[in-house]
Amino acid sequence: MMLTALGLMSGTSLDGVDVALIETDGRRIKSFGPCGYRPYTEAERSLLRRALAEAIYLPQRDARPGILADAERAVTVAHAEAVAAFTSQNRIACEDIDIVGFHGQTVLHRPERKLTVQIGDGVALAKAIHIPVIHDFRAADVAAGGQGAPFVPVYHRALAQSLDRDGPIAVLNIGGVANVTYIDGPDTLIACDTGPGNALLDDHMLNAMSQHFDCEGRFAALGKTDEAWIARALQLPFFAAPPPKSLDRNDFAALKLGEMSPADGAATLTAFTAAAVARIVKLLPKPPKSWIVAGGGARNLTMMRMLRERLSPASVEAADSLGWSADAIEAQAFGFLAARGLKGLPLSYPATTGVPLPMTGGIIARP
Ligand SMILES: Nc1ncnc2c1ncn2[C@@H]1O[C@H](COP(=O)(O)OP(=O)(O)O)[C@@H](O)[C@H]1O
Ligand SMILES: [Mg+2]
Repeated sequence: MMLTALGLMSGTSLDGVDVALIETDGRRIKSFGPCGYRPYTEAERSLLRRALAEAIYLPQRDARPGILADAERAVTVAHAEAVAAFTSQNRIACEDIDIVGFHGQTVLHRPERKLTVQIGDGVALAKAIHIPVIHDFRAADVAAGGQGAPFVPVYHRALAQSLDRDGPIAVLNIGGVANVTYIDGPDTLIACDTGPGNALLDDHMLNAMSQHFDCEGRFAALGKTDEAWIARALQLPFFAAPPPKSLDRNDFAALKLGEMSPADGAATLTAFTAAAVARIVKLLPKPPKSWIVAGGGARNLTMMRMLRERLSPASVEAADSLGWSADAIEAQAFGFLAARGLKGLPLSYPATTGVPLPMTGGIIARP
């Protein structure tokens, strides 16, 4: 049975809520519907940044001390507003949406402590939007010993099945953190985080230039990359570890650029993301023939150029050039995962998160 599923994603970049509708049975994608975006306000962004800083001390996943309770309410309200704006703009009635996949906002990701924390109240959201909601996708995986991330690979596989091209194919999502899905025929699905995505660069742009991000990578294009710095950063044990593996947004936040101009810093951090992606190739069964890039990083033309240089001779294309939506893929993925969750299909596998067995997940909240 085909379902109309609405996916909601708020990623580690803390930029806003992505919304996307898809028609799917949890296996196949029948059609893509419209997508939307509700940016966080300045006040919400700074609240979320403070919540991330406090979440380091969280003892368990359902604790919401201090500012985390405020941040959770803000996340829930922002998502309810995102759905209301989306349905009214696209003239969609809530009865026409079967299920909503609500990822929430990750504030702490520590799988080695069996802890991954996404804030956002699924029950309150279901009541506010009058549509059943599936939330808490990552909890069961982490409780079973998985990394709890990445969760988009099953969706990347469904997308890749509709492409007529030789494998291996790599789908790279560059959000705050970057993750790759390696697909080679129907039976090989491997995934992991590759390293930083946009988060280090965003933090640098905020500190050095008071901007939220490097639009189209124009600022990094003015700078010089410090290859020695990148080589040193790539010595961190994370990069030598084979997949599956995952990261917290702030895992590399302690890396300091040292004496560098702001533009050289932006160039170096952009190249670091590209170099970390290239580093993963040695840890995959075969070098991918084509790389398809999604997430906000696909809009950074300097990052795309650096990926092409470092992944050559493989092809590197933005997802939009294939008729996919670079901006909406993750939201679509959580719509797809919601449909899978409803049907009891696995969301994660040993080769995507390291979970011992294919794992179902998600909790249903009814309005
Ligand atoms: N036009 C653009 N040029 C360069 N970078 C961009 C652009 N638009 C978005 N980004 C980058 O993408 C990030 C958002 O990407 P997104 O895929 O939403 O990540 P996440 O899933 O972590 O929220 C922004 O913080 C910014 O770094
Ligand atoms: Mg985002």
